[in-house]
Amino acid sequence: MTLLETVQGDITTIPVDAIVNAANSRLAGGGGVDGAIHAAGGPSILEECRRIVAARGHLPTGQAVATGAGRLPARFVIHTVGPIWGRHPEDDAVELLASCYRSSLDEARDRDCRTVSFPAISTGVYGFPKDLACRTAVAAVREWVAEHPDALDRVLFVCFSAGDHERYLEELAR
Ligand code: APR
Repeated sequence: MTLLETVQGDITTIPVDAIVNAANSRLAGGGGVDGAIHAAGGPSILEECRRIVAARGHLPTGQAVATGAGRLPARFVIHTVGPIWGRHPEDDAVELLASCYRSSLDEARDRDCRTVSFPAISTGVYGFPKDLACRTAVAAVREWVAEHPDALDRVLFVCFSAGDHERYLEELAR
């Protein structure tokens, strides 16, 4: 049985096996949670991101790739690229966001992780409506966990704001 939980806080301070990053296709770092992860994790993460992009090109929206976690309280950072709201038909954007969660959980499982933390992917700079993103994220994780019942012990939705945290509490209680 995999526990799905939500907490309010800074994702870079919560110990888990894998921290998911809301990255961009260039894996170039940025602001928001991407900036926080690179700042707290240190330069080794960006160095590994650059090697990955040099070898494989940009990371497509909806896909995920793992790197080490540098100084973060984790074994891995899983970088995933969320859809930019307004760039895709709404249904496609929802499917791409769900794919971010599924792909990240696949990466975590493939690295024998037992605990994974997610930020609210695409809901900051990328402008995805928060309620729709929350419903999409919880539904995608619930579906994945049901298909892989023994893969993970815990999935944590880490919310930066009280409003986001309230939203996830309500969605997880449904
Ligand atoms: N811990 C947890 N959540 C955080 C943190 C943090 N330290 N910092 C920000 N967040 C939250 C934001 O409040 C938002 O709810 O992460 C969510 C995602 O917002 P962004 O970080 O802006 O990510 P996103 O909307 O997916 O945009 C990605 O922004 O930073 C750039 O390089 C990144 O180009 C990419 C784009």
